[in-house]
Amino acid sequence: MKNQIGIEAMAVHVPKRYLDLSDLAAARGVDPAKYTIGLGVKEMAVADSGEDTVALAATALLRLLEQHPIDRTRIGMLAVGTETGVDHSKPIASYVQGCLELPQTMRTFDLKHACYGGTAALMACADWIASGSGAGKVAIAIAADIARYELGSPGEPTQGAGAVAMLVSDDPRLLTLHHPAISGVSSADVHDFWRPHGRREALVDGHYSIECYLEALSGAYRGWRAKAAEADLIDGDARVPSESLARIAYHVPFCKMAQKAHARVRAVDLEDLGESTTDGIEKESFERQVAPSLALPRRIGNAYTASLYLGVAGLLTAEGSSLARRPIGLFSYGSGCTSEFFSAVVGERAATSALARDVAQALEERERIGVEEYERLIAAQASSSAPAGRPSSRSTFRFAGVEAGRRRYTRA
Ligand code: COA
Repeated sequence: MKNQIGIEAMAVHVPKRYLDLSDLAAARGVDPAKYTIGLGVKEMAVADSGEDTVALAATALLRLLEQHPIDRTRIGMLAVGTETGVDHSKPIASYVQGCLELPQTMRTFDLKHACYGGTAALMACADWIASGSGAGKVAIAIAADIARYELGSPGEPTQGAGAVAMLVSDDPRLLTLHHPAISGVSSADVHDFWRPHGRREALVDGHYSIECYLEALSGAYRGWRAKAAEADLIDGDARVPSESLARIAYHVPFCKMAQKAHARVRAVDLEDLGESTTDGIEKESFERQVAPSLALPRRIGNAYTASLYLGVAGLLTAEGSSLARRPIGLFSYGSGCTSEFFSAVVGERAATSALARDVAQALEERERIGVEEYERLIAAQASSSAPAGRPSSRSTFRFAGVEAGRRRYTRA
């Protein structure tokens, strides 16, 4: 078994266009404070018709390999977590392999369980390396999605799009997982959010999905805490066990969810200590432990599988140097549902990696669009034709239409 496993490098890719949610609120006749304060969201990324999940995932991986060049024959596995694939059978991983002309000597596959898929991909890669099956090779985990709800529905302000590519290896310069198995899991067969075959937009029982998320979090967190205590990872000086973690990044379908999640984790800790479930410092604790990971999700919106990892990327960018050698918690939730609470240690060199430049660039190069243009782009995403004209885009790879039933991609 390898001792140190985790993320050696990561890159993010988000669409060039975004909608300011105060513009959406005005168009829908909603008080903007409901979105900005009630849901805690500010902007959401909008993919154009050439930017499907393949284009986002392939561009994220290209950025990763440009910033962190490795001998491509060392990649032995490419696992993609997504819930917005483009084919019932052919995985996004296979298209990505083709776009980047990666060698044939690798496993390629997708993993699906709603927003948990990115974590499933990361864990599959970590387990493969830890078991020795990788035989010295490295693995790539990608989380990529375009979140879609019906226009005008309560879910509409919680859309977004993006991809995060992670190089997983036994040289984890960014993040060393507490691996194997210092994690807690909780799953149940529920219909809180789903997308039947033939539908582009998800169906969701929104308020119930929040309850399912919090219930799963309670179980997964208790599971992690028991294993962390056994492994002596809980800091004896911490007033409650969750304070042993310098930061906690939660899956964020909308940023207010992280606030609800953190309140639940503290309530579980306090309840299990036999105390009242509030102690008056929830807000301070949230600002210190959680808010730093919300910078990117607040600007990009919900990118389903990628949301948690956008949070982690933003966190490492903003606080990589002060968090070096310190433990952080991660909570991944996929409706339906499954969930995992796990932890990792921030690497010494996290702050100096190319990630910070990548994240800054991703935000700087964006363009604000109006509601009319957003609605036009959403309608165009459904087309199977090549996008008309040559739209300026941050995506190096682009969907170029369907020929003889086969999806084609071009490289800018
Ligand atoms: N000013 C400030 N806050 C306001 C407000 C206003 N004018 N109007 C409403 N709010 C607050 C509400 O109090 C609520 O906060 P709370 O949850 O802390 O009580 C929040 O804004 C949302 O309002 P609500 O009426 O519950 O919104 P909604 O019924 O339209 O939908 C979701 C909210 C999250 C259910 C909906 O966006 C959704 O279905 N999203 C997709 C599913 C999802 O993301 N699930 C998460 C788990 S995976």
